[in-house]
Amino acid sequence: MRGKAQAKQKPRLKTLERVFSKAGIGSRTDARSWIGSGKVRVNGRVAQNPDQWIDLDRDRITFEGKPLCDAEKVYILLYKPKGYLTSYGDPEGRPTVYDLTKEAGTWLSPAGRLDLDTSGLLLMTNDTSFAERITNPAHEIAKTYQLKAATLLTDDQLQQLRQGVELSDGRTRLAGVTRLRDSASAKYTFLELTITEGRNRQVRRMIEALGSKVLKLVRVAIGPIRIGDLPIGKWRHLTADERAALGVDARGDRRQKTITRPIGNTSGRRRIPKPSYSG
Ligand code: URA
Repeated sequence: MRGKAQAKQKPRLKTLERVFSKAGIGSRTDARSWIGSGKVRVNGRVAQNPDQWIDLDRDRITFEGKPLCDAEKVYILLYKPKGYLTSYGDPEGRPTVYDLTKEAGTWLSPAGRLDLDTSGLLLMTNDTSFAERITNPAHEIAKTYQLKAATLLTDDQLQQLRQGVELSDGRTRLAGVTRLRDSASAKYTFLELTITEGRNRQVRRMIEALGSKVLKLVRVAIGPIRIGDLPIGKWRHLTADERAALGVDARGDRRQKTITRPIGNTSGRRRIPKPSYSG
């Protein structure tokens, strides 16, 4: 007879296609196609339905005859170029970050998004709960950007950014703001801005709230992880130290550790490269 505690335990259920994406084996679309071609079995029977509910503690799934267990956790850092989408596939055929990370050898998804016109640091992983932690504003993971504003910004305007500006979806949280320089022509201001939220087009909208506009935007850090000297369009695995700083131990398991948020000016800043300015 099952014990009381066991009897009360809620079953952990997921759809079959979600089990594949969660395990980092492939996208849900991949899973559908594998199921369609008879490569997937549940408890010994060929699976027919990608929406079938799976009890993670009881059902045995095999893929091409091999038991499906959690894939090794992989964490990479990509220097996303401007003009690349962070979504998987594009009806218009534009390039995506998946085109740049094929050699990573496993299915990875971006932990958060960057606009088409934004370049910089993008973490990609098959660890979906890690990705959720990086992106969920409740965890206050700092994201640091360098930007070129279309006008000179005054100290008062920078102070407004620090204290929060009113956007259509509410006031922004306290932010770290450092003036990097003003252009020699006295037409543009270059800033480093650190925020702990990730609202849609947030940085661009914050600058627009000051009556200016972002001409160039580069994400240079997420939490303690900086883009450093990585060439644009290239990726690398996170180092053991970086994984540890993000609360992932050497085996790829996440510890229950809070990521500290380095707000404000940070050393080793990368200058926004000059040649690609349009303005
Ligand atoms: N804020 C923006 O406006 N765009 C990004 O891509 C990221 C943050």
